[in-house]
Amino acid sequence: MDISTSNAAWKDVECNWLVVGLTESPDLAGPLGELDTALSGTISRLIEAGDLKGKLAELLPLHDAPGVAADRVLFMGLGKSDELTRARCEKAAMAAVRKVSSKADTSVAICLAGSGFGSVSSSVAAEITATAIIVGSQGQDSLKAEPGHFPLAAASIVVADGDASETAAAVERGTILGESINLTRDLVNLPPQMIYPESFAKRAQTVAADFGLDVEVLVQSDLEAEKMGALLAVSQGSSSNRGPRVVAVSYQGAGEDAPTLAIVGKGVTFDSGGLSLKTSDGMITMKSDMAGAATALGAVAAIARLKLPVNVVGYMGLVENMVSGTSYKLGDILTARNGVTIEVQNTDAEGRLVLADVLNYAVDKGADRIVDLATLTGACVVALGEEVTGAFSNDQEWCDTITSAAATAGENIWQMPMFDHFGDLLKSDVADCRNIGGRWGGAISAAKFLEKFVEKTPWVHLDIAGPSFASSNSSHREGGATGCMVRTLVEAAASLAE
Ligand code: BES
Ligand code: MN
Ligand code: ZN
Repeated sequence: MDISTSNAAWKDVECNWLVVGLTESPDLAGPLGELDTALSGTISRLIEAGDLKGKLAELLPLHDAPGVAADRVLFMGLGKSDELTRARCEKAAMAAVRKVSSKADTSVAICLAGSGFGSVSSSVAAEITATAIIVGSQGQDSLKAEPGHFPLAAASIVVADGDASETAAAVERGTILGESINLTRDLVNLPPQMIYPESFAKRAQTVAADFGLDVEVLVQSDLEAEKMGALLAVSQGSSSNRGPRVVAVSYQGAGEDAPTLAIVGKGVTFDSGGLSLKTSDGMITMKSDMAGAATALGAVAAIARLKLPVNVVGYMGLVENMVSGTSYKLGDILTARNGVTIEVQNTDAEGRLVLADVLNYAVDKGADRIVDLATLTGACVVALGEEVTGAFSNDQEWCDTITSAAATAGENIWQMPMFDHFGDLLKSDVADCRNIGGRWGGAISAAKFLEKFVEKTPWVHLDIAGPSFASSNSSHREGGATGCMVRTLVEAAASLAE
């Protein structure tokens, strides 16, 4: 979708919906005042009557707007101007876009200037708005006869002041971020009979071709040659036409000698739990267990399209975790790629087995820094709730880079401890380690397991089991896949380039 920018007077913009942002203390002297005059004082009257308060993400439509060129006006509340953050600005824009995109063929103009953006600069506001236009107009219901959201027929962002070329660049960046988030969301939202290791790999090849990236796909025989015994064990219960894949998508934005960032993703395209079978309730959303891999792909695509001067490789470990006569079993002892033997005590702790081999592969391929993303543990959701990503690391400086990237991107990350005693929980009587660490601190023992496979490479593990998938729709966010952490990874890559 092409989003244009304009600095026309608000009353003159022709479109189906004119979206007008205003804070709780709107400035009626600026462009908002001019609009008020064109609307014969409607805005002042609504404020006076207490019907228009400007509360965060509050929406008030005017279905009939004589005096302005637009068919309708939608007031979008931004809350208190001194409390406005990137995340709040995004919440408001998402709510507005979700409302105006519920009909097909709709044209929208979103007016930004004169609303008092507090700490959010006008170019950041333009970027956020562009992202919201792209993300808010795509739902999780693409397979419904009557979807709830439609791409906008035309969209423009109206700014009264500021450098026009700066605004256009911000809108371009916001568009790329939105499209990358939607790529991740689409992969996660599609059903598991459509997205399996082979079809995911094909999609990655298409993305690579679209954006000029190198792509390598390892199939079963390659993975056997690579001795990825842990990943292969998880996959072995699947039918032969649902075999495993490891995909590496690389973007070289810096010189040969520049360090390489590896973004590693868990791509379990369906997690039944295996013989340690999940309940139906626990299994319903397990198409989303490849969100880590989808995020890695979305992030590499974004970093490449933004032409960031960094070298990045996205590694996706793609398997199904299924039940059959050939499934791996409790008591099996696996040999991971790095030679570590693992006693399987629960086949539902499969993500760490997949990541063990892919992390080790990334290290051998020359990763200088690693970040992995995985819907790894329910325990992380118990610890941090559904909207916060857990971070686990062997290198405080690299972890600080990721957490501050998240802060810039307006995403929620919280660092968890990595004390040695959590590693002791993984001891086995019959192998080098076992694949579960007991009930308490389950997100941390899972991270301690992964740590065994990264050698000494600076590494951050992001457990996205909670925030990658929303259980229900809300006014400012579609349920299903969220595309969380795409922006954080882009910010982290950008900060490495500095
Ligand atoms: N994919 C799940 C984790 C998960 C749970 C993601 C809920 C999203 C929502 C993972 O493979 C899993 O099953 N983990 C187990 C680990 C346990 C067996 C040690 C869990 O969290 O129960
Ligand atoms: Mn599992
Ligand atoms: Zn899983």
